[in-house]
Amino acid sequence: MKHIKKVIVLGSTGTIGRLTLDVIKRNPDKYELIGVSGKSNINELIKQISEFKPSAVHIYDYKNVYKIKDEFVNLEVYTGDSGICKLLDRECDIVVNAISGFAGLIPSIESLKRGFRLALANKESMVVAGHLVKDFEKKYMAQIIPVDSEHSAIFQCIDAHDKYVKNVILTASGGPFRGYSKDKLKYVKCEDALKHPTWKMGKRITIDSATLINKGMEMIEAKWLFGLEDNQIKVIVHPQSIMHSMVQFVDNSYIGLMSVPDMRIPIAYALSYPERIKNDCSELDLFYLTMTFEKVDIDSFEAIKLAYNIMKEDGTYPAVFNAADEIAVDAFLNKRIDFLDIIDVVKYVLDKHINIKNPTLEDIIDANNWGMETAMQFIKDLNH
Ligand SMILES: NC(=O)c1ccc[n+]([C@@H]2O[C@H](COP(=O)([O-])OP(=O)(O)OC[C@H]3O[C@@H](n4cnc5c(N)ncnc54)[C@H](OP(=O)(O)O)[C@@H]3O)[C@@H](O)[C@H]2O)c1
Repeated sequence: MKHIKKVIVLGSTGTIGRLTLDVIKRNPDKYELIGVSGKSNINELIKQISEFKPSAVHIYDYKNVYKIKDEFVNLEVYTGDSGICKLLDRECDIVVNAISGFAGLIPSIESLKRGFRLALANKESMVVAGHLVKDFEKKYMAQIIPVDSEHSAIFQCIDAHDKYVKNVILTASGGPFRGYSKDKLKYVKCEDALKHPTWKMGKRITIDSATLINKGMEMIEAKWLFGLEDNQIKVIVHPQSIMHSMVQFVDNSYIGLMSVPDMRIPIAYALSYPERIKNDCSELDLFYLTMTFEKVDIDSFEAIKLAYNIMKEDGTYPAVFNAADEIAVDAFLNKRIDFLDIIDVVKYVLDKHINIKNPTLEDIIDANNWGMETAMQFIKDLNH
């Protein structure tokens, strides 16, 4: 009899979470949703629980938990920091981590400790603690399959040929401000930054795509996922988001992965690997396809230079990079700072940081807290 895989989706109320549920819904003979989680979007959770009937739910904010408890009497309901471990303490095959931000780190580690396949959308886990996350994967014989479209592409292109990799080439759409000078970037508005030309995503990653900080984070993510040297990681602008990334091999041949920009494709691959499942996503219209590639403007978009420096220094710098950016993006979304202030906040916090090499998990948590507090103080001072 065919084994139906049991899946827990963390961050099920977000963009990637909802798309994952869509993939599961279309493949009832392959996947069963047994757990969902969100931070505070109770209405969406209620909708998901009614439709998929999972056995358990985790809600980070305890305030509205009673609403779910009252409505679903047989459901196991967990909350708070420790609740996520309880949600994961059940028979399961795949955990999809689609939580946004640093909050995704411990859930990634806890999933790996239980030996599950981790379908990883939460790039922050790899950015802030890539060495630890990879150690946990090995120690507990778990498996990380990337969900990020670029890393899914690289994963598929490398396949079994990892010893022949020369470079990986991450593609970037360039975001809504591609071609803008630094002067022009001074005046861009939050509403414009939220209009991504090719992808529909959560707010933080959309703003990070506009600053290219998202691409900087993906460079660090690629380093750890694929065991690369810093100078093997290249970035190229490809506005159409059709080629999701490429691998250059030692014989100077290249393999790239193409599809329409639809996150359900890499999500489904992370669930089905090493198999593939049919879907009804659009096909590429190859006769009318235009694909262009451009250099990144590293003067207007400093995030790429910054990411190379951070990879070189390593230690707790990546955690501080992420923490400062989380706070800066939140301040930008709340109209407390301007677009170019985001990178200035990040640079300021990195500059003040005293790096710890080979950090433990505690060091990383401390660096995250320090980075957030320092960024908040800097923003407060900017506003005075
Ligand atoms: N969107 C994309 O196309 C895309 C592509 C590649 C990678 N990613 C990565 O995937 C992750 C999710 O992105 P997204 O665009 O789906 O974000 P999103 O739409 O903002 O969703 C974030 C999810 O995380 C939950 N969450 C937030 N803070 C939490 C906390 N402290 N504890 C528990 N849950 C929390 C949210 O719950 P509530 O809704 O209840 O607040 C929501 O379910 C990010 O790391 C992003 O970089 C996204």
